[in-house]
Amino acid sequence: MFRHTKLLQFEAKPEKPDPVYARKLQELIGGAYGEMTVTMQYLFQGWNCRIEGKYKDLIMDTATEEIGHVEMLATMVARLLEGAPATVTAEAVQDPVLAATIGGMDVQQAIVAGGGALPADSNGYPWNARFVIASGNLLADFRANAAAEAQGRLQTARLYHMTDDPGVKEMLKFNLARDTVHQKQWLAAIEELKADGLEEVVAPSALFDEENQTHNKTIWHLSDGPDGAKGAAWTTGAGLEYLMDPEPLGGPGTAPPPDPALFGTSEPLPAEDAAEPTLQPADGDVETFHDGSVWKNKVVGNTRASGSAETKSDAVAAGRKLAIKRGTAHFIHTKDGRIGERRTYPRARS
Ligand SMILES: [Fe+2]
Ligand SMILES: [Fe+2]
Repeated sequence: MFRHTKLLQFEAKPEKPDPVYARKLQELIGGAYGEMTVTMQYLFQGWNCRIEGKYKDLIMDTATEEIGHVEMLATMVARLLEGAPATVTAEAVQDPVLAATIGGMDVQQAIVAGGGALPADSNGYPWNARFVIASGNLLADFRANAAAEAQGRLQTARLYHMTDDPGVKEMLKFNLARDTVHQKQWLAAIEELKADGLEEVVAPSALFDEENQTHNKTIWHLSDGPDGAKGAAWTTGAGLEYLMDPEPLGGPGTAPPPDPALFGTSEPLPAEDAAEPTLQPADGDVETFHDGSVWKNKVVGNTRASGSAETKSDAVAAGRKLAIKRGTAHFIHTKDGRIGERRTYPRARS
């Protein structure tokens, strides 16, 4: 249950209207790291939290505070838009100062929100639920929370230098302070998760015996220059090892030919491959071949062809269907009888 207290968490009154700044403030409302994001992020983390008590309280308390920040900012935006011209186009054309002001405005604040804030960023891009991280793993989530507060504080700090209005600055000073404390609280909560034995340094704190034991400690030096980060904490500490000249571990990363219906460009089988015994049709495979004046499909081992077509592409399509149905290989011959292509279904078999 939520209640609404009809007072702002902190005063949000500008000295004078400033419609251009009202648009800039939208970033702190509906941007990727705005108050809407942390509100929804913490709410969903809290609702999905499986432990009653201090962690859930911390998450829900912060979520509730962030709703109040959306409210403060929305109120500030509406006040900054006070007196912003509603019918401006004609005057703007004649008055370059007005034109510049209107040019910097978010016109949707007037047209859509009637002189109020929008759930959107400073470019009018709508707030997006994809910004929210709520995984159910408290360590992974608290790290995301500290990062969100860091980005939020960074953007607030930038906006702080884009206004001279003392009222706006007072509100932003409060927001900066809350972003400071929220960063500290999430970092402290991460330490507490470890102290309580709930999580370790790496999230999730599981599967350490199962993961690849050769590659769970090496830092790969992949930049030009002979020394890289040699001596830095992450190349020496915590049982880590610095690989100065790492070699690739795998072969060529060429994907197999796509389904012919997708028309990706791929290399036909080389002639020598076609001669390899392993690539010869086996019983049950489907062959498409030229016979007299028509193209035919035949299941290897059957005495009769299963169908014929006038064009090669029609025959290949029918042969492919048959091979997919049977889950076998499909051999497509050239007109002179050589194996031109081999496709297998399901494709994982190739
Ligand atoms: Fe906030
Ligand atoms: Fe916050």
